[in-house]
Amino acid sequence: MTNILCIGAGYVGGSTIPIVASHCPQHKFVIVDINEARIAAWQSDKLPIYEPGLYEIVKKVRGVNLFFSTDVDKHIAEADIIFVSVNTPTKMFGQGAGKAADLQYWEKTARQILNNSTTSKIIVEKSTLPVRTAEAMETILNSNNKGLHFDVLSNPEFLAEGTAVRDMENPDRVLIGGRENESGQKAVEVLVDLYANWVPREKIVTTNLWSSELTKLVANAFLAQRISSINAISALCEKTEANISEVAHAIGLDNRIGKYFLRASVGFGGSCFEKDILNLVYLCEYYGLPEVARYWEQVVTMNHHQEHRFASNMIHAMFNTIAGKRVALFGAAFKANTNDTRESPALEVCRVLLDERAAVVMTDPHALDNAKYDLGTDLASRVEFEPDPYKAAEGSHAIAILTEWEQFKELDYEKIYASMSKPAFVFDGRNLLDHKKLFEIGFNVYPIGRPAITHLRSE
Ligand code: NAD
Ligand code: UGA
Repeated sequence: MTNILCIGAGYVGGSTIPIVASHCPQHKFVIVDINEARIAAWQSDKLPIYEPGLYEIVKKVRGVNLFFSTDVDKHIAEADIIFVSVNTPTKMFGQGAGKAADLQYWEKTARQILNNSTTSKIIVEKSTLPVRTAEAMETILNSNNKGLHFDVLSNPEFLAEGTAVRDMENPDRVLIGGRENESGQKAVEVLVDLYANWVPREKIVTTNLWSSELTKLVANAFLAQRISSINAISALCEKTEANISEVAHAIGLDNRIGKYFLRASVGFGGSCFEKDILNLVYLCEYYGLPEVARYWEQVVTMNHHQEHRFASNMIHAMFNTIAGKRVALFGAAFKANTNDTRESPALEVCRVLLDERAAVVMTDPHALDNAKYDLGTDLASRVEFEPDPYKAAEGSHAIAILTEWEQFKELDYEKIYASMSKPAFVFDGRNLLDHKKLFEIGFNVYPIGRPAITHLRSE
């Protein structure tokens, strides 16, 4: 039996380790966090994150070969392998503010590992980190005078929220980076063997440490770049009567382009895309590559433009004034099937509408609590949070679809239309609904990347 510890019980630690534990009953797993409320929630029937299928897996392994704890020091001492999945947000102070990764949580963890270790260990970077972070970590960890040796591996996580269970159960690939010396390669083999309990070996890719660290940032940058590219073209479609869904479908049929991540939207959100691209931008600047930095930065600039373009279209369509008008935002989560609202375009649209003094009401099946938290007390106090979409729509001038929840498709839009102020508007930031049907009901409909269909004479 190997003692495997995960430090950080957030989205990554909490959704990956239970699945590893379920495939490795021969090993003991512990997940620790400094956040007591989070650990208590992982031990309860209401997990701190909403992730389809996860609760069933946690229930199966919790108390069997997976344990949750806040006693970080004790479990570090007992561990043979430590996964570190603490947060690495964008640094908001000092050098690199607004772009570089804030490594304070990561470094604190490294020092805690050092202080509490009495045996040599394998340390696995699961958090997303700037390229060459492992070098600093090795230096800190191996600076001990206890005769201990630490091998640092990079094993970035590629799961997407909402499909975390599926992504972990059946990953496209598992990436493991290690030092190219004997001890590093032995450590790589240990981790390969762990994953091989359920992942076919040909899907387990091993590289040097720096390739692995950099691959994570580049993978996110490429995914986000596709969305910004299709969103840029959606603006052109709206001017030319081309249809973005048709364009995306047709270009995606070219195998060299592929069909994924070409859904035009109000913008990409989530805790990682923007953070990781800005981190890449910072690294390029740091290494004296300003043109490369500007190239990737534009992906983020385009995304902000798309969010603001969507909000501006709303204001413009509603006769250039929305002050005092009730506007219902359908969706707060940054994508469907998660309660995560970090960097959600829904919140950015909400901020713009509040600036225009609209009376904003927000509805979402799972993410309203996080939306309140992420908006901050001042802004949240000006928003009505209403779990029932019918009540949210009642008396409103407009509905904006900001998260692609299936539930929103199944609503009775005739009933909703009847309860709204007229003229009634739908702004579909996810191209989720049946626009023709909505138009026939009486709505003025504004999709992304397709011409609006309205009953208004001036359009
Ligand atoms: P998160 O904020 O949800 O969770 C991080 C947890 O670490 C928090 O609960 C925090 O309390 C805990 N923590 C911080 N310092 C600690 C310490 N010293 N000891 C114990 N616990 C500590 O973050 P997340 O979304 O899980 O992301 C974690 C990392 O994984 C980030 O680097 C992120 O970029 C990366 N990542 C995230 C996703 C995702 O879908 N969210 C996917 C792939 C990679
Ligand atoms: C993303 C990556 O997909 C994961 O591989 C990665 O591990 C993770 O970031 C991370 O490092 O945190 P995630 O942010 O959870 O995962 O979700 P995505 O499915 O990538 O969606 C991100 C955003 O892009 C969402 O707001 C989504 O609505 C939007 N999106 C996605 C589009 O607007 N159009 C698309 O075609 C696809």
